[in-house]
Amino acid sequence: MIKISPSVLTADFLTLTEDIRKLEAAGVDMLHLDVMDGEFVPNISFGNPIIKSIKAHTKLPLDVHLMIDRPHRYIDEFAKYADYLSFHFEAGSDNEATLKRIRELGVKSAIVIKPCTEPEEIFNLLPLCDMVLVMSVEPGFGGQKFMPDALRKLSALRDECKRQNLDILLEVDGGINAETAPLAVNAGANVLVAGNYLFSADDMAARVKEIKSI
Ligand code: DX5
Ligand code: ZN
Repeated sequence: MIKISPSVLTADFLTLTEDIRKLEAAGVDMLHLDVMDGEFVPNISFGNPIIKSIKAHTKLPLDVHLMIDRPHRYIDEFAKYADYLSFHFEAGSDNEATLKRIRELGVKSAIVIKPCTEPEEIFNLLPLCDMVLVMSVEPGFGGQKFMPDALRKLSALRDECKRQNLDILLEVDGGINAETAPLAVNAGANVLVAGNYLFSADDMAARVKEIKSI
């Protein structure tokens, strides 16, 4: 079963609860929250106070995607509200220790790879992950075009999880729409992040259903 994790990055934050209600009614599985520090990526989004408020307004699991330098410094803080906590392989932390710490705090652990990182580089970390996130755009902005190279990486990760006998969620993030979603699912993704495709629509629920029916 495919899970949908809408990214609220391009939402209007002052009316976000209305959108969250619509997404809940449409049957989404979690909410994807993009944290950007202006260092690891050339953009600044929001931090934990916003995530805390969102947590108080929904029962949907929160899928927090940290795009910040040396994320180990903030894991304990974000683990207070996150259900899934992901950070970048490239961000300068001790990745093994950071994944272990996330689990220790009772949160699902996830590592993210940018378009420049090969899947083989994280094969040894897979036993410490509950989810792996493959970026299909350069992290930093919503509304970009899907990079098809992500498909090869998803397949390689799916095969490696099978080989290691691991039951890990495979998430893909960036440029997901009605055309790219089936490609990602065929390649092995089972969690689809969708931002612009949902939030630019007049009828978000219809688009959720469209993707869910893949
Ligand atoms: C990009 C973010 C994504 C983004 C996805 O750095 O990690 O989650 O919001 O947005 P779309 O679906 O518009 O590409
Ligand atoms: Zn994201």
